[in-house]
Amino acid sequence: MDRQEEILPTEHEVYHPSAEAISEAVIKDYDALYARSVADPEGFWATEAKELEWYEPWDQVLDDSNPPFFKWFTGAKTNIVHNALDRHVKTWRRNKLALIWEGEPGDRRSYSYYRLWQETCRFANVLRSMGVQKGDRVTIYMGRVPELAIAMLACAKVGAVHSVVYGGFSEQALADRIDDAQSRVLITQDGAWLRGKIVELKKTADEAIRRSPVVEHVIVLKRTEQEIYMEPGRDYWLHDLLALPIAAPTCSTEVMDAEDPLFILYTSGTTGTPKGLLHTHGGYQVFTSTTLKWVFDFKEADRWWCAADPGWITGHSYIVYAPLILGATSFMYEGAPTHPYPNRWWKLVESYGITILYTAPTAIRGLMRFGDAWPNRHDLSSLRLLGSVGEPINPEAWRWYHRVIGKDKCPIMDTWWQTETGGFMITPMPSVPLKPGSATRPFPGIEAEIVNEEAEPVKANEDGYLVVKKPWPGMARTVYGDPDRFVSQYWERFQKQGYYLTGDSARKDEDGYFWIIGRIDDVIKVSGYRLGTAEIESALVSHKAVAESACIGIPDELRGNVIWAYCILRSGYEGSDRLVAQLKDHVRHETGPITVPAKIEFVDKLPKTRSGKIMRRVLKAQALGQDVGDISTLEA
Ligand code: WTA
Repeated sequence: MDRQEEILPTEHEVYHPSAEAISEAVIKDYDALYARSVADPEGFWATEAKELEWYEPWDQVLDDSNPPFFKWFTGAKTNIVHNALDRHVKTWRRNKLALIWEGEPGDRRSYSYYRLWQETCRFANVLRSMGVQKGDRVTIYMGRVPELAIAMLACAKVGAVHSVVYGGFSEQALADRIDDAQSRVLITQDGAWLRGKIVELKKTADEAIRRSPVVEHVIVLKRTEQEIYMEPGRDYWLHDLLALPIAAPTCSTEVMDAEDPLFILYTSGTTGTPKGLLHTHGGYQVFTSTTLKWVFDFKEADRWWCAADPGWITGHSYIVYAPLILGATSFMYEGAPTHPYPNRWWKLVESYGITILYTAPTAIRGLMRFGDAWPNRHDLSSLRLLGSVGEPINPEAWRWYHRVIGKDKCPIMDTWWQTETGGFMITPMPSVPLKPGSATRPFPGIEAEIVNEEAEPVKANEDGYLVVKKPWPGMARTVYGDPDRFVSQYWERFQKQGYYLTGDSARKDEDGYFWIIGRIDDVIKVSGYRLGTAEIESALVSHKAVAESACIGIPDELRGNVIWAYCILRSGYEGSDRLVAQLKDHVRHETGPITVPAKIEFVDKLPKTRSGKIMRRVLKAQALGQDVGDISTLEA
């Protein structure tokens, strides 16, 4: 396997933290803490939960009476917004910066905790006036702007369940997600800035609503200011709503049960349509804030920049909720890292004095391509910690990030986790020795293991299924509207043992360090974005020329993976370069630019099992010129 070959030579390359780094770290002795946490996980999580405020305490830390539907902090009353905003404005933190933002065109804004709280209250009052109540779903389809965070917080404040759809998705992807959540309210914006151009979010939203007409009200932020269509009686400008007397700057926070839903986030899995993972108020707030506090070693004076998009779990947990709960100052940037020049990010680090930068390997590789001169033009000495997430980081990119960006003094926190896990699961902390390409060891309270088909732990350096053996507070509670799918996707495989199946394969070395290899299902990570083959295949098949299609992920130096698509055409159509271009356009329009296949090939036949399932593994082996392995189930 390509990745293994890449890993092996570096396995003994270890970066030890300096004595000074250890003395400054919040957690100085990972081993002792870990041992304590797994000896009594409930006690451990309860101690962390007590760091937060609750309207009423819990009766039980973990209710495991109905696995895999675990419940945490049952009986407790809370609201994540109370911990993220309400409690801070009663202290000196009301004057601290919560969020600093820069738009791609260069405009700047900043919010103190007090202002962010007021804006959230005003937005929450608008939502209430539209009849949004506890439990209602609200879809948010926006770019990387402060109002996105405010919209999420406002939903949570009134007890509504937000479903944020990544702004890079297009019509059908948005329509499916609106439909599944049955959202009556959609929050969007006229457009978002990206690479100097406008991404027409409202236009896409209009088309999605046409396909999924459950939406009754659309709230539109004015950002890019081009002419857009506004449907009378349905569409409202946010600034008009905020000018109404109902948008008062105070608003009560809905009292929620710890297990009440906070958000749905759609993600792709093995088969079928994307599934809405459901996260709740109580456990999620404890897990996300504890993980961020220790892994990134939060200090009051830090300036934290999580460069992900809020439309993915990384943004939910580590742009919006956890930093606010910790009372941190976050930085958010709207646009592309290379706009107008490849030094944009480094300029931002310098001008805002960023102390911790958290991003994805694909972004690092993308910026590395432009050479050392761009970052070297800037003073990056404010940085003290770096982070990586989304896919395995190849050692070469790790070393560049460490040397050129971190000047050999900033440890890199390679955090392995998933939409399903809510927060970091396998990750170093600043006091842990690092090996480039390894996410190191499990976070306290998390018992991860690598097992074979029989659920037995495999030997050191052998591949196996990555599983989590015990429940944790930040885990998704179910698949929205489809609990059976939650069970079949994650829990059936190792039902007897009660292990959570992550969908990743991995290895553990003799020091107990985890090395993630990649997905074992039909999920493809393109530029760190999680895509399912099924959605892209449906987009292709929705074109009149395509009868059937199969997509696979092919390793790519820059993007981690790219998509290759195989299509069987309907009779009367012939494959041509023109048709390839048309199909790419069609996919861009239906599901979004990141889902567009790098290559489309026309075939007469697809390898299938006798029961008719497409064997993507065979396609992939053929494409890579590898042995196709066991094909005894292949249709004759
Ligand atoms: C992959 C993103 C290696 C993995 C937070 C996982 C990683 C999937 C890492 C989840 C990492 C995430 N090293 N692989 N540090 N972080 N992955 O749900 O395959 O978008 O299963 O969550 O990303 O993707 P998701």
